[in-house]
Amino acid sequence: MEEQKRIMSGMRPTGKLHLGHYFGVISNWVNLQNDYDCYFSVADWHALTTNYDKTEQLKNNVYNVIIDWLACGINPEKATIFVQSKIPEIAELNIYLGMVTPQNWVERDPTLKDMAKILRNKDGQNSQIGFGLMGYPVLMSADILAVNAHYVPVGIDQVAHVELTRDMARRFNNVYKTDYFNEPTPKLNNCPLLCGVDGSKMGKSFNNDIKISDDEETTQKKIMQCITDRSRARKDDLGHPDKCEVAFKYWQIFGSQEELQNIENECKAGQRGCADCKRQLAKKVNEYFKDIRERRKYYENHLEEVDEIVQKGVEKSRKISKKILEDVRNIVGMY
Ligand code: TRP
Ligand code: SF4
Repeated sequence: MEEQKRIMSGMRPTGKLHLGHYFGVISNWVNLQNDYDCYFSVADWHALTTNYDKTEQLKNNVYNVIIDWLACGINPEKATIFVQSKIPEIAELNIYLGMVTPQNWVERDPTLKDMAKILRNKDGQNSQIGFGLMGYPVLMSADILAVNAHYVPVGIDQVAHVELTRDMARRFNNVYKTDYFNEPTPKLNNCPLLCGVDGSKMGKSFNNDIKISDDEETTQKKIMQCITDRSRARKDDLGHPDKCEVAFKYWQIFGSQEELQNIENECKAGQRGCADCKRQLAKKVNEYFKDIRERRKYYENHLEEVDEIVQKGVEKSRKISKKILEDVRNIVGMY
């Protein structure tokens, strides 16, 4: 059998994951783990780039992310789950990559600019862009190249970083006259982006997210806040599903073709109230996540199993990174 191509991706441990993560990234990973040799990393060093002074919840959040992944169907028998800071070879590769990275490459990184902006808005005058944050894209390239991945399945917001990783791989290869590193390609999910209940991008800091781990009541409350067709005041006003800003978009993900057709007809005919519509939607969403939430509870109560999974994953991915760093040291010409 031809050797499977390698996939690498990661998430920062910033808290419990939401449905944007699920439909934007994790569901993609769950499919890919069947066909590729997958490495999924909890990027705890990356979390430090902006939150180095707020680490009380860091360890807890590493668990939260892994438990969310496992609950959603990342299967440790198929995919390798590990924690970034357990692989010192990534930090070493970060040094070599930093040497060949022109400063203006990181300075013009659009995602980094956004992060800096958010930081400034939050902390105002006190915000400092640390050396570590400037190195964010180099460290992310080190993650990807430390397993010499072929593909990187990420959300659209991370694509610029993967492009930069391609540039860095090419640059390293050019500088050292080698073809050692693959130029990794981003792999986007074909699922449409799930917005927050207010219609803007779903995000924890925007207070518009529904968590994978939310209970049914919380989910229902949040869904009742979803924006609908703003031109509609009463139940018998004629509705416009195409102008229903959030609720109908969610239906398009959670409903069957038949249900969608029904909703569309009733809404347009003024035979469907938005509150009822959303109550039904909440039920659908809760059904969808029922098993996932049960599995999540299981892992919450069996952290020793989680530790074992991570330990195995660290061992496996570290073995690969060790070999790659041996090669890199030779290529660079180290003692
Ligand atoms: N920067 C990514 C994010 O914020 C997380 C990440 C860290 C990552 N290392 C990675 C993603 C390597 C893909 C590959 O979502
Ligand atoms: Fe949207 Fe449903 Fe209200 Fe129609 S009835 S506007 S689809 S929430």
